[in-house]
Amino acid sequence: MIQSPKGLNDSLPQMSAKLVYVESVFREICRKSGFKEIRTPLFEYTKLFQRGVGESTDIVNKEMFSVVPSVDLRELRTGAKTQEDFFKRIDREGYTLKPEGTAPVVRAFIEAKLYADSQPTKLYYITPCFRHERHQAGRYRQFTQFGIETFGSKEPSSDAEVIALGYDFISGLGIKDFILKINSIGCPNCKPAYNEKLKNYLMNKSSQLCATCNDRIDKNPMRVIDCKTPKCQENITDIPFMLDNLCDECESHFSSVKTYLDSMEIPYIVDPKIVRGLDYYSKTAFEFVSDLLGAQSTVCGGGRYDGLVEDVEGPSTPGVGFGMGVERLMIMLEASGVEIPVDDRLDCFIASLGSQVQPHCIGLLTKLRRGGLNCDMDHLSRSLKAQFKYADKVGAKNVITIGEDEVEKGIIKIKNMSTGEQTEYSLSDAAGIINQVRSNG
Ligand code: HAM
Repeated sequence: MIQSPKGLNDSLPQMSAKLVYVESVFREICRKSGFKEIRTPLFEYTKLFQRGVGESTDIVNKEMFSVVPSVDLRELRTGAKTQEDFFKRIDREGYTLKPEGTAPVVRAFIEAKLYADSQPTKLYYITPCFRHERHQAGRYRQFTQFGIETFGSKEPSSDAEVIALGYDFISGLGIKDFILKINSIGCPNCKPAYNEKLKNYLMNKSSQLCATCNDRIDKNPMRVIDCKTPKCQENITDIPFMLDNLCDECESHFSSVKTYLDSMEIPYIVDPKIVRGLDYYSKTAFEFVSDLLGAQSTVCGGGRYDGLVEDVEGPSTPGVGFGMGVERLMIMLEASGVEIPVDDRLDCFIASLGSQVQPHCIGLLTKLRRGGLNCDMDHLSRSLKAQFKYADKVGAKNVITIGEDEVEKGIIKIKNMSTGEQTEYSLSDAAGIINQVRSNG
């Protein structure tokens, strides 16, 4: 049997109904805060992520699904194209399935010249993402991100607005067990000196650090701070943090973000270990974490990225946003015991007696659907008893019976399934039937 590839999940109807609800709540909170939806393609040129997410990140180094058109592979296999030509082409025009939502939105922001409109530009998205990670609970190879991005404001109130939307969305769904952690990871003014300090510190510890950390000392020393290896953590207990080495501007920005969060009554913890796994961040970095999630404890991560638009060859434009893992959010909802309101019960089921009445059933069904009812009929030539049993199983609120006798008399019977009460209506009176079904509830 062909199964789905590892780390990929189907969303069966019950889950899809819950996802639709959660998506609608997200769309509504975005709408209320002035964020407009953007949709970008599933894949982009690989170089967008190399430049946007960063060459030193795990995402770019290990986790991207890069796509090669089969014609290129065939040409390589048949020798019509040399390996050198093949790889040159991939470097120039290779595609990658999006591993995250921000870089494609930045690309679209630049390409459509949205920076020329009055600012800020506030965008939201709901998008599948792809990362070739080791799959486990809460970590998948295809997952969905809810994200928001604000462009054009360097004010700390924008950081606070973005964080508040994430906080209000999660708590508004009824989840209580989560924590907001915030940090500042500096800017191009203060980060280089701090990185030097950090490198010197880490060089002295290199024999006590894992291979990955050693690899990062030179390229991205701040990432050593969130290494999950216990031995590394034991050996860096006195590591210097960016938070204690901020320039005045970053210090004042961070202080304002905290003041705004306080005035919005949003609880947070300052955690100098929040460094994020993507290269584009500056100043504010934050994560929403929860014990409900086990090892993959971060449901949402984000921060400010004032240099990213320029890195992707757009005009210098500040930005701030977040990305939230929807599958992790669903795990949290489940673990919190939050009941998601999913009403997929049929308003009515049309039960038929005899194949001759089917044209009347299908005709009435269509009129009722056009009139706004959620209804269905039998398509399996079941007995009347079996049809009632089925209607009961799917929770139909009413059952309309149409038999040969009824058709002859031009009437139908509506049974209210919760009270057992029956009412008769003229088969041609679709409006009356719809009203009766509605008033039965
Ligand atoms: P990220 O921290 O890489 O940030 O991902 C954001 C969220 O996506 C994570 O907190 C997690 O919930 C979810 N996620 C990531 N990888 C997986 C996975 N393999 N399986 C399931 N869920 C996953 C970003 O992607 C940034 N673009 C966020 C951002 C937007 N920063 C500024 N704007």
